[in-house]
Amino acid sequence: MLEAPPLLLAAGAVGLALLALRWLAPPDLRLFGLAFICWNVYVVNPVRNLLMGSSKEQRILQHVLQHAVAGDPESVVAAIDGYSSEKEWAMHVGDKKGQIVDSVLREQRPSVLLELGAYCGYSAVRMARLLLPGARLLTIELNPEYAAITQQMVEFAGLQDKVTVVLGASQDIIPQLKKKYDVDTLDMVFIDHWKNRYLPDTLLLEECGLLRKGTVLLADNVILPGAPDFLEYVRGSSRFTCSHFSSYLEYSKVVDGLEKVVYKGPDGPVQDPPPRPALKGEAAPAL
Ligand SMILES: C[S@@+](CC[C@H](N)C(=O)[O-])C[C@H]1O[C@@H](n2cnc3c(N)ncnc32)[C@H](O)[C@@H]1O
Repeated sequence: MLEAPPLLLAAGAVGLALLALRWLAPPDLRLFGLAFICWNVYVVNPVRNLLMGSSKEQRILQHVLQHAVAGDPESVVAAIDGYSSEKEWAMHVGDKKGQIVDSVLREQRPSVLLELGAYCGYSAVRMARLLLPGARLLTIELNPEYAAITQQMVEFAGLQDKVTVVLGASQDIIPQLKKKYDVDTLDMVFIDHWKNRYLPDTLLLEECGLLRKGTVLLADNVILPGAPDFLEYVRGSSRFTCSHFSSYLEYSKVVDGLEKVVYKGPDGPVQDPPPRPALKGEAAPAL
């Protein structure tokens, strides 16, 4: 408790600085969105956790256990959305982008779906509720507390037969998917972990032979916080076809978006061949 006064003072100072920024500077919405996320993650959460003696993720789980109906995934999703829009902001994909995820999932009907980044299990429950009989979702989560909460969320929703929660770092688990988790190739991947892992893990999935022609990668938060190296790579590569779905950052009015990336296979035309130098006596090619 001795830590509370300096923490509260720091929180107040950061809050005032952000307010002043919002007031004085012309609104750069992306910057404002990043400040909004940082404010919640680095100021509001630690202060609340300290005062309440629990983590936000535990509070989300408690809210679900008290307000949703066991065995009813729709009620779990609704309870998390209600809590995160009214009580405490949290980094689930949220309902607006969630509806886009739903529509891509309905269109793709994946048998084997992988999620990178489970957090509290919101998107896992949201996606698993739409899976066809026999289909399965593997969700990889780095943080042991979040993985345990996801497991409880999935069990409460009654989806434990469809969902496997894997504790670990994506870069360690992806190479084990074929042998240890009996995956041949993936039909769809929901990419929603730390943004600097989007590109290396996409390349790793391909390197491990987990992508097939038509595998759909659906990447969240490509605008905010943003994954510019990933976007630049997949949009510029002839092995992928991309489309963008504009939306809003979860539980906010700040613009964000999802990128749908379809893998075309390694055989696609790699690149336009470089211009051939003119042979003797041949007219030089026009550039
Ligand atoms: C934005 S949250 C996921 C939200 C979740 N998909 C949802 O919509 O409900 C990102 C999560 O990715 C996890 N994460 C970050 N890097 C990871 C990695 N390399 N491997 C696995 N999980 C990771 C974080 O611990 C965090 O829980």
